[in-house]
Amino acid sequence: MVELLPSILSADFARLGEDVQAAERGGGTVIHVDVMDGHFVPNLSLGIPVVKSLRKVTHLPLDCHMMVTNPDEFVPAFAEAGINWMSVHYEACPHLHRSLQLIEQHGMKPGVVINPATPVELLIPILGMVHHVLVMSVNPGFGGQNFIPYSLNKIRQLKELRQELGLSYRIEVDGGVAHDTIAMVVEAGAELLVAGSAVFNGGRAEQNARELLEMAKQAEERVRNEVRLQV
Ligand code: DX5
Ligand code: ZN
Repeated sequence: MVELLPSILSADFARLGEDVQAAERGGGTVIHVDVMDGHFVPNLSLGIPVVKSLRKVTHLPLDCHMMVTNPDEFVPAFAEAGINWMSVHYEACPHLHRSLQLIEQHGMKPGVVINPATPVELLIPILGMVHHVLVMSVNPGFGGQNFIPYSLNKIRQLKELRQELGLSYRIEVDGGVAHDTIAMVVEAGAELLVAGSAVFNGGRAEQNARELLEMAKQAEERVRNEVRLQV
């Protein structure tokens, strides 16, 4: 089942509660929270106080995307603040197995993220440990960038691997997911669809979210029908 994950990076931080609730009314089912440290990515975003405030305005799961060089150090505090899912970058974790275990031990669903230039094959050893795999379809750090088309092959690859290995991780995509790309990513096999600027730009989060989700569901239905025809 496809789900829309509004990324609050493009929300209005002065009215975050209202923006999140509007995206929720439009059908968003998980809130994507981007944490940046100015080292792993060339930008700063938000931290624990914002997560605590967010926790008070929505019951939806909070999906934390850690763009920091030392994610392990923050696992307990983010769990305590109310994060439900946490993804760490393959590129930032020299001891990825340990980082994923730590996330799980703190009661959060562990996920792994790969940058555009990182191949999917590197994840094979830990795929059985994760609840979701996040494919970055832009270089992380900023909202509003253009979707990198070769990400579609990585999504397809993850879908095939899941079948081959008999696993159940969910496939998430983040970066440049908008009205003109959302159908493609769903057709490739992504189910957790992160969208920032496409939801929050223009102050019409509810309507944007509804439109994006509708397009995603239509694409999912097309895929189902194709599968039916092939069987
Ligand atoms: C970028 C972040 C994204 C960002 C996506 O580093 O990880 O979650 O908000 O923004 P859009 O959807 O505008 O590309
Ligand atoms: Zn993100």
